[in-house]
This record gives sequence, C-alpha cells and structure tokens, in this order.
Amino acid sequence: MRNQVFVALACICSFLWVTIIFILSKDRAPPQVLLDPQSLESRLKNVEEQLSRQIEDNKKLLENITQVRHKLEVKLAEERREKVSVSGADESNYEGKNDNVIPVLLFACNRVSVNKALDELISYRPSKEKYPIIVSQDCGHKETANVIAGYGDQIISIKQPDLSEPQVPAKEKKFRGYFKIARHYGWALNQTFNTMGYKQVIIVEDDLEVSPDFYQYFSATLPILREDKSLWCVSAWNDNGKAGLIDENAADLLYRTDFFPGLGWMITKDLWDELSVKWARSYWDDWMREPVQRKNRACIRPEISRTKTFGKIGVSNGLFFDKHLKFIVLNSKNITFMDKDLSYLLKDNYDKRYIEDVYKTDMLNIQEIRQGFRPELKEVRLTYRNREDFRRYSKQLGIMDDFKSGVPRMAYRGIVSFMYKGRRVYLAPGANWSGYDPKW
Ligand code: UD1
Ligand code: MN
Repeated sequence: MRNQVFVALACICSFLWVTIIFILSKDRAPPQVLLDPQSLESRLKNVEEQLSRQIEDNKKLLENITQVRHKLEVKLAEERREKVSVSGADESNYEGKNDNVIPVLLFACNRVSVNKALDELISYRPSKEKYPIIVSQDCGHKETANVIAGYGDQIISIKQPDLSEPQVPAKEKKFRGYFKIARHYGWALNQTFNTMGYKQVIIVEDDLEVSPDFYQYFSATLPILREDKSLWCVSAWNDNGKAGLIDENAADLLYRTDFFPGLGWMITKDLWDELSVKWARSYWDDWMREPVQRKNRACIRPEISRTKTFGKIGVSNGLFFDKHLKFIVLNSKNITFMDKDLSYLLKDNYDKRYIEDVYKTDMLNIQEIRQGFRPELKEVRLTYRNREDFRRYSKQLGIMDDFKSGVPRMAYRGIVSFMYKGRRVYLAPGANWSGYDPKW
C-alpha cells in the first residue's frame, strides 16, 4: 500500500516537472537565424562537405563489410571441407558426386603465366567444392608444371600423357599445334566427364582472365542450358565486345547466338557424349562451328565479355591479338545473375520477343547510321542482302566481318546486335531470312 502511494506521488511529480519544462521552453524565442546569403551559402557548403564525408565513410564501411563477408565465406568453405575429409571422403573417389558441381577445366601447355589465370579463377571462386578447378597440362613443360604444382590442393592437377608428335598432313605441318590442342581437349574432356564423372564443365585456357561475376554467370545459365535443347553452350565471350561497340550500362544483358564463341564456355555431359565419339583431330573450334556438329543449336553469350585473353604469344600468330583480341572489354561489374529471371533466353520466348523487337525498329542506310541521322531513334536496323553487303557494312562499323560455316560472328538468325555512336544497331538480313549459307 505504502509502495502504491509512493509510486503515485512519483508519477505526479514527474508529470508536473515535464509540464513546467514544456511551458518554459514553449515561450522561449527560437534561436536567431542569420539570413544573410553569404553565411547561408557557407553553411550550406559546410553541410554539403559533411554529407560527402559521410558518403565516403559509408563507402569505406561497405567495403570493409564486403571484405569481412568474403573472408567469412572462405572460412566457412574451409571448415566444410575439413568436415568432409574428417568424415573419410576420398578426393580420388569420384563416385556419388553432386550433380550441381561445375568444374572449371583449364588447359595449360608451356606458359608459366598460367598463374595469372589461376590466381584470378581462385580469387573469384565462391566455393572450392562447387567449382573444383582442374588444370590439365599438355606439352610436358617443367617450369609450367612447377607453377601448377605450387597450387597444391587448391586445384586438381592432371597431365595429358601422349606427348608424341601427332600425324599431320604434309601441307598442314605448320599447324601442328592445332592437332595437339585438339588431342589435349579430347583427352581432358574425357577425364572430366567419364573418369571424374562430372555432369557439366566450364572450359578455359591458360591465357584467359575472368570477370568477378564469372561463376555467377555460368551458375545462373546452367538451368537454361539444361532445359533448352536448342542450346548447346554458354559462352563468356563477345567477339564484338570492344569499347564503343557494347553498351557499358547493360552488363546484365545476354543473347542467344548461332556462332560458337568459345573462350570460356560451358557444356553438359550429354553434349560431350555426342561429340566425343567423333572429336576433331585439329582446329576443334571451327570443327564445332560446322553444321553437322552444331545442328542449328545456339549458345548464350553476354553483351560484355566475362573473359579476356592476354595470350599474345601462342599457337596462332600475335597479329590477330594486336589487331583485335586485346581490345575486347572485360566486364568489371559484379552482376548477380542468380537473382535475375533469365527465361527470356529460352528459344520460344526469345524468338518471339527478340526477333519481333528487331524487325520493329526503323531502317536506316549505312550513310545515315554513320552520320548519326535521326538521333531520337535509340535502336535502328541496317539491312544486308548478301555476303558483300555484310562485309562492307561490318568493316565500316567496326564489327567482325568474317563468317564460319556461313555464320557471322555473334549472329542470331543472321542478326548481329552492337552499339554504334551511342545507339543500338541491328545488322540484319531481310525479315524473310531462311537460314545460313555455308558458302558465305
Ligand atoms: C586458338 C583459340 C583457342 C583454341 C585454339 C584451337 C583464340 C583466342 N584462341 O588458340 O581458344 O583452343 O585456337 O583451335 O581464338 N595448348 C595445348 N597443347 C599445345 C599447345 C597449346 O594444350 O601443344 C593449349 C594452351 O595451353 C591453351 C590452348 O591450347 O590453353 C590454346 O593455345 P594458344 O597457344 O593460346 O593458342 P590460340 O592461338 O590462342
Ligand atoms: Mn590463346
């Protein structure tokens, strides 16, 4: 009872106290605001500076958080791995593997700079379990083998055993390297799919850099590749991916292409089962582009490349590198493809929407496009009627002008999409297009 009286008294006192304070402060004049423009300006400046300092601080904070999160992820992955080895799983036992594991198969030969490719692949890799890196070495080059061995159990290392000189027709002697590459590809892909039992693979070479979202890109497109039987690969490469020809604000944009781009690409075991029985003896990439292999299937490719080659010195001459390859832009943004709806890439959706969109655009001629005529049009179409048209226009606009088995680089149903002077150009055949002509 005494307690209740005490509490009531305390309440009344507090109420009175608050009321008095309120009345006193209500009648007080507001602080004088100096309204002369100069002091106002300097105060605003002050606020502005404070705000930008705050923004900078926030940025730093965000960076720190990202780093800590990354470290945490690495640590967790390591802990998981330890648990697996404690529970007695044998790494050489390839049975019972998770079907969603996506190994990265890297081809090496005699370049010690393979460490550049490997360091990047490892640093962006979100999980060693989901993305084991298999390094397959050809050529028996000691120094390169040492570099690879230095990576210990961060990678799986294998060696192509047949170092004999391949049988090469006399007039192709100087292309001997391409026979060795094809042999190496055949062997290592058999290892990956048949010996190790993986269900898909990302293929890279020892002179490729990758983008931060490399793994995300392939992970997110794998379900589409599996589902859509008219697709046979996902590639990280845009042959027309030079600055000025790409929309740098469209890093998340993906396409279908009838051209096999290579240079960082993913396939499934089903495709390997089909190709392995007749695998190419040389020039494996052009072989894949032949109609009998491609069978009208397409690959997914990005607006901005997720790989970039630094291999000026290699089996082909460095001229192509200096004239073209070194200008391809490597994407630097981290696009979270996993959060995106990629169903627009499925054939039925794509053919309806994309083709319609392209043929809806206004047509300009080559002079009008080069002169930036009608700048209000953000997308325009340029029609080519024959091979000569295509060659001439692509030379003038700066895109690749060659064909493989009649398919222009990056074309889908004959259409090549690229940027020119800040707007989208579709170099497209007539709407009645009926297929590629391998004689082009
Ligand atoms: C070009 C292609 C490459 C393709 C090759 C075969 C470009 C930029 N590159 O090779 O994607 O695979 O043609 O048609 O278009 N290698 C071996 N054994 C050898 C020599 C090389 O395994 O005896 C490996 C290399 O380590 C590398 C790959 O084959 O991973 C390609 O060799 P490289 O020297 O880079 O030749 P490119 O001219 O780039
Ligand atoms: Mn190369």
